[in-house]
Amino acid sequence: MRISVETKIYAVIGDPIGQSLSPQLHNGLFKANAVDALYLPIAVKSEDLKKLLDGFRLMNFGGFNITKPHKMEIIEYLDRLDPLAEKIGAVNTVVYQDKQMIGYNTDGFGFIKSIEEKISKIPKERLTILILGCGGAVKSVAMALADWGIKKVIIANRTAAKAEALVKLINKSWPGKAEAISMAPEALKKAVDAAAVVVNGTSVGMADSALQSPLAKALLKKELLVYDMIYSPPVTQLLKDAKEIGAQTQNGLDMLLYQGLLAFELWTGIFPDPSAGKKLLEENSEGNSEQKLLKEGIK
Ligand SMILES: NC(=O)c1ccc[n+]([C@@H]2O[C@H](COP(=O)([O-])OP(=O)(O)OC[C@H]3O[C@@H](n4cnc5c(N)ncnc54)[C@H](OP(=O)(O)O)[C@@H]3O)[C@@H](O)[C@H]2O)c1
Repeated sequence: MRISVETKIYAVIGDPIGQSLSPQLHNGLFKANAVDALYLPIAVKSEDLKKLLDGFRLMNFGGFNITKPHKMEIIEYLDRLDPLAEKIGAVNTVVYQDKQMIGYNTDGFGFIKSIEEKISKIPKERLTILILGCGGAVKSVAMALADWGIKKVIIANRTAAKAEALVKLINKSWPGKAEAISMAPEALKKAVDAAAVVVNGTSVGMADSALQSPLAKALLKKELLVYDMIYSPPVTQLLKDAKEIGAQTQNGLDMLLYQGLLAFELWTGIFPDPSAGKKLLEENSEGNSEQKLLKEGIK
């Protein structure tokens, strides 16, 4: 690859940033699609955000991704927001064009794209999805699902008041699309019975809670698609339980993939080949072999 003054620069900014797979994904995709561009990971503290963005405006910048903890605070430094990003109140992708920084949120539609094929038999108007958790990722996904037009998104969170507040916000823009429930087993059972997809959007199942599941195995059923937004470890306890009872399973690697592909499309106008992007992520993420086991239905 020949870097020149014409080479467009892209980046992912966050703090910390070393763990991000986005540089591997986007640099690989730029190469595969013959786009003259370069993508860098940049660690930045909140107090330096403005200075960094002022610097971007002086360079041949095409745009950037934003990850924790800056997805909300970045907004005040942008020129415009896409309507969905404005409703979500968080931005993960910025396009820099004609001296304007425009904020988007591709996390939610990344999630939708990642399940579209698996749920293709269910008309979206009849689709109910139960989501556990109510942090930043769930907010983006739940709003995108309401915007997409599913029948209902049910949200259960440890801190019930947070789920109730999010549901209120969603129903203001998309009346009747969201419902908050408690984490009590009876409430969860009723919701699981109504849902075709159950999603873990909590951090339960990650390294420090690797042996825990956010949902009792007895509440699962084999007709479900059980989706864990976690991708490291690639097979969480929830996914193990779901696999054992014969449910379909999916981890969060495809959500990561598709939010990236949608960002790539916003920047270049090209929607890249998902299998090429998946290969780049799998080559660079830990537990690749377990990933394969899961895919082959062994785990
Ligand atoms: N695949 C992807 O592309 C992708 C993208 C973003 C995030 N994620 C994953 O999504 C998950 C959430 O991320 P986030 O950014 O939304 O995090 P966050 O804003 O910190 O939210 C964390 C959520 O987990 C809940 N939680 C934490 N510990 C819990 C426990 N012991 N029991 C029950 N609930 C608990 C919290 O409940 P409270 O409100 O009660 O504290 C909150 O709802 C993480 O696992 C992250 O890795 C994946």
